[in-house]
Amino acid sequence: MRKNFFVAICSLLMLSLGVARADDGMWLPSLIGQRIGDMQAKGFKLGAEDIYSVNQASLKDAVVLFGRGCTGEIVSSDGLLLTNHHCGYSQIQSHSSVEHDYLKDGFWAMSRDEELTNPGLTVKILQRMEDVTQAVLAGFTEGSMTESWRDSVVKHNADVIRKEAEAAGKGLKASVEAMYYGNQYFLFVYKEFRDVRLVGAPPSSIGKFGGDTDNWMWPRHTGDFSIFRIYAGKDNEPAEISEENVPYHPRRFLRISTEGVKEGDFTMVFGFPGSTQEYLHSEAVRYIGEVSDPVKIDLRTRRLAIQKKYMSESPDVRIRYSAKNASVANAWKKWQGEARGLARNHVVQAKRDYEARFEKWAEGTPYEGVTGKLAAVYSQLEKYALAIDYYKESVATVEIASAAASFFKSDGKADLGGFYKNYYLPIDKECFIEVMNVFDANMPADLLPEWYLAQKKEYRTIEKWAEVLFGKSAFRAEHSPVYKSSDPAYQFHLNMEDWYRNTLLPRTKALTDELNLLYRLYVRGQMEFEPQKDFFPDANLTLRVAYGKVSGYSPADAVRYEPVSTLKGIIEKDNPEIFDYNIPQKLRDIYAAGGHEDQPVCFLATNHTTGGNSGSPVLNADGELIGLNFDRVWEGTMSDIHFDPEICRNITLDIRYLLFLVKEIGNAQWLVDEMLAPATEEDPRQQI
Ligand code: ARG
Ligand code: GLU
Repeated sequence: MRKNFFVAICSLLMLSLGVARADDGMWLPSLIGQRIGDMQAKGFKLGAEDIYSVNQASLKDAVVLFGRGCTGEIVSSDGLLLTNHHCGYSQIQSHSSVEHDYLKDGFWAMSRDEELTNPGLTVKILQRMEDVTQAVLAGFTEGSMTESWRDSVVKHNADVIRKEAEAAGKGLKASVEAMYYGNQYFLFVYKEFRDVRLVGAPPSSIGKFGGDTDNWMWPRHTGDFSIFRIYAGKDNEPAEISEENVPYHPRRFLRISTEGVKEGDFTMVFGFPGSTQEYLHSEAVRYIGEVSDPVKIDLRTRRLAIQKKYMSESPDVRIRYSAKNASVANAWKKWQGEARGLARNHVVQAKRDYEARFEKWAEGTPYEGVTGKLAAVYSQLEKYALAIDYYKESVATVEIASAAASFFKSDGKADLGGFYKNYYLPIDKECFIEVMNVFDANMPADLLPEWYLAQKKEYRTIEKWAEVLFGKSAFRAEHSPVYKSSDPAYQFHLNMEDWYRNTLLPRTKALTDELNLLYRLYVRGQMEFEPQKDFFPDANLTLRVAYGKVSGYSPADAVRYEPVSTLKGIIEKDNPEIFDYNIPQKLRDIYAAGGHEDQPVCFLATNHTTGGNSGSPVLNADGELIGLNFDRVWEGTMSDIHFDPEICRNITLDIRYLLFLVKEIGNAQWLVDEMLAPATEEDPRQQI
């Protein structure tokens, strides 16, 4: 008895120590009060109200959701906005032509008149957030209704809440988001600005320096930033794009610190992480790391090899496929790091051990047996989950079929010009043969639709099928005289998508409903099991705070990485023969002139981040901007599932490199002046 008591006290102590030490977590800003003590103990000098306040201007007023999945931050009283180069990529590309290749040469507005509008691009600034769990669940009693019924109650109530919030003011957009698998719901109300102009971007050879070779890696030297400006109506409220609009005056913008960073310094990332799965069952982790990731990686390895072959044969094809190739390669490389990280850290076993301890505790509680039930659902679901993965990484990647689909979905109105500009049929056809052979070999026949089996019977081989599909489809080239709905590319899309949506997904519905219910229970149980621990809700593209410190790491036995990279490293990598490492001559000249050897470029820290955090402000202990988050290290990409403070690092562009580039490469001193403008009496920066 006494011994048990002692053990219990010890583990409690260790747990609470563990809580104080760990840097993982993506915290809701309105609840940051829970963590502010820990943040301050680690060096943060501001208070919870400085981060998020409904009454006064706070840091959150300077952070924006940029486009559909990136973060940006406001750095001047005239709405100047910073984000990553890869976040502004499509805008930079859309203004580019053969005469003005802004992707290649960079773009710098020399005055406000030269800033370029971007139809369709929005930024959202959070006005407030609020726990609306009670209102969302009004009319629902746990245990007495099916999951589908619960879903429709939630959807209905959430719609009412959202519409009411949006009706309260001009340009308001609201959403209700589930936290902790639907144990809690939050309302987020944003102001959405629709006139966001491109102000500056470095040449891709700087903004994408290192390309896919360095992507997800350290040491890193990418100047991954672009500059925009938010415009508003004369009343400072959101307005459609118009010449009449004026720069937006934010409630708060970020003060830039040029003091620099060193190992151990406090850092905070404030942004919109997209998606994490930190509370998964061991079976789900096993599936991801041992089944799903390897399958997806294999299919993408095949496609990338085909793309690479044709891209290296022709500069024209290389340009056409550069963006596609980058996005295929991005997740491909991340999954490899993730699968390795999960294995290396024995995450499945750790989860199993945790589940065993949980179940021991759960005896006699409503949570008893929940982990076993989850395992049972997963074992039924796996076959379908795998089919979905195969579908998404093979059938759904056939480009000609997507072109046909968008043509027919728009009743022939879709402009396919953009599609053909970046299309090369031999790549698509060879990829079709490659991935459909894998699909065919791995898909259980009882899951496949009649239509597919009939095609197989008719053509016998995927190669023959490809001859017909790519040889006869009117979508094989631009400006075909006739498009028929019997087109083989369209039929391929139509039948396979129909199978996916109307057969495959519905067959998983009962199981995923069951999963949702069990996870709601399991996460609630985990919180009761470890009452001394703060649980952060999984990322879901809502505003979060992550904090940590500047820190190197050890990627492998006998290897240690320093946390700061410099311009010297860019010069070391520079090689005109290698596309990813061919820097502009101007940068070489500036370096050769001397004095810039120690110019900092990027740094590492222990903040818990994920996709969506790209462009997020990285702040120091005083809440000043020290950099832009843009990536994570490869060995730590499993942090979406399991954060290991030893090895998980986010990668930040040092703000001083950004300022250096704007001045030296862009010759846009006016922007540097705007960003570094000294604070004045009425200046919102002084409110903190
Ligand atoms: N890895 C970063 C992210 O996940 C940067 C991606 C930029 N794209 C690329 N293929 N290099 O978005
Ligand atoms: N580059 C990612 C993005 O675009 C962020 C990197 C990550 O996944 O952490 O959001």
